Amino acid sequence: MLNLTLRQLQVFSAVARNLSYTLAAKELHLTQPGVSMQVRQLEEALGLPLFEQIGKKIYLTEAGKRMEGYARSMANLLDEAETVFEAMKGVEKGRLSISVATTASHFATRMLAEFSKQHAGINLSLDITNREMLQQQLLDNEPDLVIMGKPPKGLDVDAQAFMDNPLVMIAPGNHPLCGQKTIPLNRFADENFVVRESGSGTRFATQRFFDSHGVPFNATIEMTRNDAIKQAVEAGLGLGVVSMHTVELELETGRLAVLDVEGFPIERHWYILQRRGKRLSPAASAFKSFVLEQAPRFTRLPFDPAADAPAKTV
Ligand code: PGA
Repeated sequence: MLNLTLRQLQVFSAVARNLSYTLAAKELHLTQPGVSMQVRQLEEALGLPLFEQIGKKIYLTEAGKRMEGYARSMANLLDEAETVFEAMKGVEKGRLSISVATTASHFATRMLAEFSKQHAGINLSLDITNREMLQQQLLDNEPDLVIMGKPPKGLDVDAQAFMDNPLVMIAPGNHPLCGQKTIPLNRFADENFVVRESGSGTRFATQRFFDSHGVPFNATIEMTRNDAIKQAVEAGLGLGVVSMHTVELELETGRLAVLDVEGFPIERHWYILQRRGKRLSPAASAFKSFVLEQAPRFTRLPFDPAADAPAKTV
């Protein structure tokens, strides 16, 4: 391998640019003999002369012209490396503000915990709120990134879907409809439902689903937390429609059951998004890639719930 130094290349480039040892010395704040020495050492390392003097002027030799190209490429590479490393420093030092839908908090907190272990220097803030509030936050350009059930209409955003979010109908584990297959939706026209508040994406999607099938949806008891809905359903206050992500544990223990209802699960997806044109910090870009690549690891749900029989028929 060529035994040369970056300093020699830098001095050579200055001489080649100025075609003068004196001007190069001035530019680099070196003495003229110092510049000549660096060039001589480089010529020795290559075994070829880089400059020739004709009269009072110096010219690049054929080897010098080739060397000029290589020196430029190497300088560009070093610049590129510097940019990459500066950006990496940013990832480790940045601030990151994430807002997620209430329903996504179950896996989002796990994802953030893991991400923060890998990037201990990042200052994280997590806001958990419902769909309506998230839309307002996006409008006000507050969070770096948002995780929600569906990109809002009428707002210019860059959104990418990264995971399924099936909505299922839940009942107490000992409900008489448990075990029945493909129960017609209109069987539930007279049932009472424990539902999320009206700004919730889950509530909105469920209402739209019943409306599109022409079946009345009796939203009799409202609660702002999925945990409260699960407890209420378990206690027999009514049935519920919630994201599968929120009931993994209760299904395993048999405290709640997913009913096999015609048209269910209601298909929904998780999106990660930001306002279009927003310049993501290195920390935010790193988190976004992390979510896109690894999110399914943080839930017990399979990526394609349609293929998961137990999810539909408990
Ligand atoms: P939610 O959002 O927590 O507001 O219901 C989830 C969703 O939009 O599906």
